[in-house]
Amino acid sequence: MRLLFLGDVMGRSGRAAISDRLPGLRRDWALDFVCVNAENATSGVGVSGAHARTLLDAGADCLTLGDHAFDQKDMLKSIGAEPRILRPLNFAKSAPGKGFRLFDAGNGKKVLVLQALGQVFMKKPFADPWAAVDQVLKAHPCGKLANAIIVDFHAEATSEKMAMGHWCDGRASLVVGTHTHVPTADTMILQGGTAYQTDAGMCGDYNSVIGMEKAEPMRRFVTGMVKDRFAPARAEATLCGTFVETDDRTGLATRVMPVRIGGSLAESGAA
Ligand SMILES: [Fe+2]
Ligand SMILES: [Fe+2]
Repeated sequence: MRLLFLGDVMGRSGRAAISDRLPGLRRDWALDFVCVNAENATSGVGVSGAHARTLLDAGADCLTLGDHAFDQKDMLKSIGAEPRILRPLNFAKSAPGKGFRLFDAGNGKKVLVLQALGQVFMKKPFADPWAAVDQVLKAHPCGKLANAIIVDFHAEATSEKMAMGHWCDGRASLVVGTHTHVPTADTMILQGGTAYQTDAGMCGDYNSVIGMEKAEPMRRFVTGMVKDRFAPARAEATLCGTFVETDDRTGLATRVMPVRIGGSLAESGAA
């Protein structure tokens, strides 16, 4: 299968990049399944039901969230009505929605997507992601119950993300990090056959501080004082993510490529 994962969509410029470019990519790259992390799509914090629909209509098969999952309050309701939206497995026990789903990708093929939150340097003490991910992977053997498996690990620390890659190695098609908004240069296939990238990067304007207009974050760092609210930067976004080709029989990766298209970043990726 040909899978595309796109990192955290950041505000209006991120949504525009998805709407402008994803339909063409789906067609030109003959993509079988597209997963998009949407946790910052509405004003940089969370995603509204309406903006989630915009991303799904542009060609996403699945939206994942993150620590900002429910910052837009209507997501508490929207997630129950839209099974293509997933929140982290180890979000609060009382959270609505699900942390994994087996999707029908057409031609009888199934794609499992799951998301978990990391524990290192995160603002809240989220529950153990290791057992949560392990349980879902054990229930869905790669190449058997699922033709492909995507694990979105939403975490701050590169070490924790790399450990999650190895924890899932041989059991998933792709383990990809989100949350830090800067793509890492370690796109590879691990020894057991799982494609891996520590962070996919964001779909946002990189003339910014991780997607926010740079003046206020710089002021806070330099002076320690708060003056304004954070607002997403609005120039052209770079579409950032990971492209993977898998073997349907094993579900493991045969090829992986970083994707960076448009905006300020140097381009990468031609599937
Ligand atoms: Fe996040
Ligand atoms: Fe994010």
